[in-house]
Amino acid sequence: DFSWKLADHPKLPKGKALAVVVLDGWGEASADQFNCIHVAETPTMDSLKQGAPEKWRLVRAHGTAVGLPTEDDMGNSEVGHNALGAGRIYAQGAKLVDIALATGKIYDGEGFKYIKECFDAGTLHLIGLLSDGGVHSRLDQLQLLLKGASERGAKRIRVHILTDGRDVLDGSSVGFVETLENDLAKLREKGIDARIASGGGRMYVTMDRYENDWEVVKRGWDAQVLGEAPHQFKSALEAVKKLRSEPKASDQYLPPFVITDDNGKPFGPIVDGDAVVTFNFRADRMTMLAKALEYQDFDKFDRVRFPKIHYAGMLQYDGELKLPSRYLVSPPEIGRTSGEYLVHNRVRTFACSETVKFGHVTFFWNGNRSGYFNQNMEEYVEIPSDSGITFNVKPKMKAVEIAEKARDAILSRKFDQVRVNLPNGDMVGHTGDIEATIVACKAADEAVKMILDAIEQVGGIYVVTADHGNAEDMVKRNKKGEPLLDKAGKVQILTSHTLQPVPIAIGGPGLAPGVRFRKDVPNGGLANVAATVMNLHGFEAPSDYETTLIEVVDN
Ligand code: 3PG
Ligand code: CO
Repeated sequence: DFSWKLADHPKLPKGKALAVVVLDGWGEASADQFNCIHVAETPTMDSLKQGAPEKWRLVRAHGTAVGLPTEDDMGNSEVGHNALGAGRIYAQGAKLVDIALATGKIYDGEGFKYIKECFDAGTLHLIGLLSDGGVHSRLDQLQLLLKGASERGAKRIRVHILTDGRDVLDGSSVGFVETLENDLAKLREKGIDARIASGGGRMYVTMDRYENDWEVVKRGWDAQVLGEAPHQFKSALEAVKKLRSEPKASDQYLPPFVITDDNGKPFGPIVDGDAVVTFNFRADRMTMLAKALEYQDFDKFDRVRFPKIHYAGMLQYDGELKLPSRYLVSPPEIGRTSGEYLVHNRVRTFACSETVKFGHVTFFWNGNRSGYFNQNMEEYVEIPSDSGITFNVKPKMKAVEIAEKARDAILSRKFDQVRVNLPNGDMVGHTGDIEATIVACKAADEAVKMILDAIEQVGGIYVVTADHGNAEDMVKRNKKGEPLLDKAGKVQILTSHTLQPVPIAIGGPGLAPGVRFRKDVPNGGLANVAATVMNLHGFEAPSDYETTLIEVVDN
C-alpha cells in the first residue's frame, strides 16, 4: 500500500537546517580563459572542491542521465530541476515527442484530432522555437509534424518562427530558416499553401517566462495573431538576414516581423476557425502564450481580437493548471517528488529565486506543478527580476537579494529546507559576454558564501550543486576540444549550455560525522540528489528513487 510516510534513516538525525543551493549553469570543465568560473574569483566554490572526494564530487547533468534522447543532448534547467526534485529519471518532452512522431501515435491522439477539425475550413498555425537546440523544441520534430499534418489534410499552414541563438550558436537562425523555407516550398509543390507568416527573436518575442515581462508575449501576439509588426518582409530569409545586419543584432533579440504578400497584406494572421499548435515541448517559455491563446478571461495585455480557434500545445505545459487543455503528446508524469514527500513528513520548506528562475526551483523542482503542496509547510519567495535588459548589463542580478532571503529564512529557524537557485552563471552565460559572465560567477560565489555562513550559525547542513553547465565553457570547440574560429578568425562564442558534469558538495556543522560520498555510484547524476537530500533530513528515500550519493561510515 502506498504511503507518504518515509522511513527513518538508521543513522542520520532529523531537524537539521538544510540549505540546498542550485547554481544555474555551473559546470566543471578544464581551466582556460573561456572557463569563466575558473577565471572568476570563486573562493567559496574553490574551498568546497578541496573536500573531494568525500565531500565534493561531480554528477552527470546531461543526456540520458536527465531523460534526454541522447548523450549529445546538453543539460538544461527543466530536465535538471525535474531530476533534482523528483529523484528519478523520466523520459522527457524531447524524447516523448520523438517517440510519438516515430510511431505515429501523435496523430491518433485527442489533441491532433481536435486541431484536425479545422483543416478543411481553416489554417493550421505552428508557433515555436526554430532550432535544433533540443531544449525547448527541435527542428526535425517540426519537420515531421509539417509532413504528418499535411498528409492528414492540412491545406493551409502558417509557421510563426522564433529565432534562437541561445541554445545554439548566434547566427544559426539563417540556416534554420533556409531549411524550413525549402521544406515549405516542397509542400507548396504538392499543392499545400504553406509559408512562414511571422517571426522574431525568442527573448524579445513570445518566449518570456514566469510572467517576467508580458510585453514580450504581446509583441508576438501582435505579429502572430493580428498580423501586425514594426517590420514587414516578403520572405523570412530576407527578414532574418536584414534584421541581423543591424548593429548589435542577435538571433535571440530580433524584433518582430510579419511576412506580407505583394499588396502588403500579412500572410498569416490567426482568425476564427483556425487551428494553432505551439510546438515547443518545454513548458516555461510557452505557458504565457498558452494562457493568451486559451483563456477567455485575460488581462495581461489587450489582445484586440481573441479568435475562436482550436489550440493544442505540443505537450500539456502545466499539470496543475491543466494548461493547455488540449495537447498532442502527454507530458512525463512526474509524481511523488521529493518536495511532496517532505511536506508529508513535516519538513518545512522555503524556496527562493528571482523571477527568471523562480519556477525552476518551484515548478520544475516539483515535477512541473505550480503552487504549493501544503501552504502551511512551505513558503516560496520570488524576487522580481530586472526586465527589459540583457543580463550582461547587470551580471550580479539578484544574487545578493536571494542570498539574503535564504539567510533570513535559515536564521529564522522556521524551515528545515531552504532551497535557492542562483541564476547568474546561466543567465549571463547565455548572453555570450565573457567579461560579464566572470562578474556573474563571482557574484554567485559570494551568494553561496552568505548562505553557508548562515548554515554555520545555526549548525546546519548544506548541499551545493548545479543544474547543468554553461559558464564553465563559453566557446564552441572542435572534437579535440580546441576553440573553433569563424571566417573572420574570431573564436565562436558559445551562448548555450554544455555537456559538462556539475559539482555537488556537502558539509556544514550539522553534517553527521562519517557522512561522505560513496565511491560505488561513479555515474551518479542529478537524479541521485533527491535521495541524498532526504537522507540529510533524516529519512530513507522511497525505494524507486535513484540511489543516494552518501554513506555513513562509523568512526
Ligand atoms: C532558456 O530558456 O533560457 C534556455 O533555452 C535554457 O536555459 P535554462 O534551461 O537554463 O533555463
Ligand atoms: Co540556461
